[in-house]
Amino acid sequence: MSSSSTSTISANNTNTNNSSAPSHEQMSQFKVEQGELIAAGFTMAEISQLLNRPAFYVYDKQVINQQVDLFRQHIPARIKLHYAVKANPYWPVIQHLKPLVDGFDVASQKEMLLALQSGMPVADISFAGPGKGDAELLAAVIAGVTLNVESLGELQRICQLGAKTNHTPQVALRVNPAFELKASGMKMAGGAKPFGIDEELVLQTLSDIGQMPVKLRGFHIFCGSQNLKAEALIEAHQHTFALAAKLVAACPYRPEIINLGGGFGIPYFAGERRLDLAPVGESLNALLQQYNRELADIELVIELGRFLVADAGLYACQVVDKKQSRGTTYLVCNGGLHHHLANSGNFGQVIRKNYPVAIANRMAQAELELVTIVGPLCTPLDILADRMSLPKAEVGDWVVVYQSGAYGPTASPQDFLGHPNVAEILL
Ligand SMILES: Cc1ncc(COP(=O)(O)O)c(C=O)c1O
Repeated sequence: MSSSSTSTISANNTNTNNSSAPSHEQMSQFKVEQGELIAAGFTMAEISQLLNRPAFYVYDKQVINQQVDLFRQHIPARIKLHYAVKANPYWPVIQHLKPLVDGFDVASQKEMLLALQSGMPVADISFAGPGKGDAELLAAVIAGVTLNVESLGELQRICQLGAKTNHTPQVALRVNPAFELKASGMKMAGGAKPFGIDEELVLQTLSDIGQMPVKLRGFHIFCGSQNLKAEALIEAHQHTFALAAKLVAACPYRPEIINLGGGFGIPYFAGERRLDLAPVGESLNALLQQYNRELADIELVIELGRFLVADAGLYACQVVDKKQSRGTTYLVCNGGLHHHLANSGNFGQVIRKNYPVAIANRMAQAELELVTIVGPLCTPLDILADRMSLPKAEVGDWVVVYQSGAYGPTASPQDFLGHPNVAEILL
């Protein structure tokens, strides 16, 4: 076992060459000792022995802490931090984050139950997402969590369900604004969207909200995710604050909370640069001053998923076969797409790009080899790394995928072909 400290994540962390392994400096959140990649003090072989499992995700608490600290360092204290549980709903991760963040945002009844059991105060749990069923809505009404309402039909159903219980539904209207978050991996606002209620309809609905049997707690303005461009986030924040002031002015009573969205991204691919939070924080400070009167006493929230947890996770699996086929060297592993769909490129990428990948037990080895790393599934989609130059590896070696702490096991088709599920551990 090795010592468990981790170094600070480098601010200019880039993987500049798509076909080469990330150097330790580039992926500096994990240490290397005697040629072995170390996560929370352990080599991959040791973690496998701890778990008695051949393929796993390991999440490093210290790296999660560093990301929370980075947010707190740059973003004004007036703005609360919520964790979007969907990014990583592993129970130990939720428990670890509970005292570090100010609230949880959930996307299903299952996530809501995890959030409730974590001890997070119910007033700090919000439940967003289209297509909530009556049973989910009822559970949320009974629990008292804030329902981020995605359509006028949903609002109507919440009113009807509330009338059947002794509980007043706590709601926030999710607004689909007229503007969009530019340069986002996923745009979730602006134009026609299944998410939220169009801004103009929200403004019309507000005049009637006082007569509805719900408590309108506030508004949710979420525009997109995976954004690495400070200037795009700044522009979206400017629009968001202006919209928030408009909504507050149109609201028959003073709202308690405005969720300003999130979208802070992390670098996955060659050439991507880390999001610089300093200008984002400065701009938020200026906006807080500008809208000081309009938004006074209203709780402001930013909700983040991957930014808090993605850097902290490594996916690890073992090489079980090495073969040549017409000039290509394949490393065939016991893990792949069924454990890590996002890395295979099938979770929203248009053209597949390599995540940062390394051979964890050969970090100091100079001899490289051009390899394609694949999983055990009988489909050409099952790719862990395509034509990457990595330390020459053999059967039994450990392949790791960095930036794997978000949208991992729960975003992957684990039962596809019936191979063993992946293990998880937070250390
Ligand atoms: C409403 C909402 N909140 C938060 C998130 C989390 O996004 P990310 O993990 O990119 O921060 C999403 C992602 O789809 C979302 O739809």
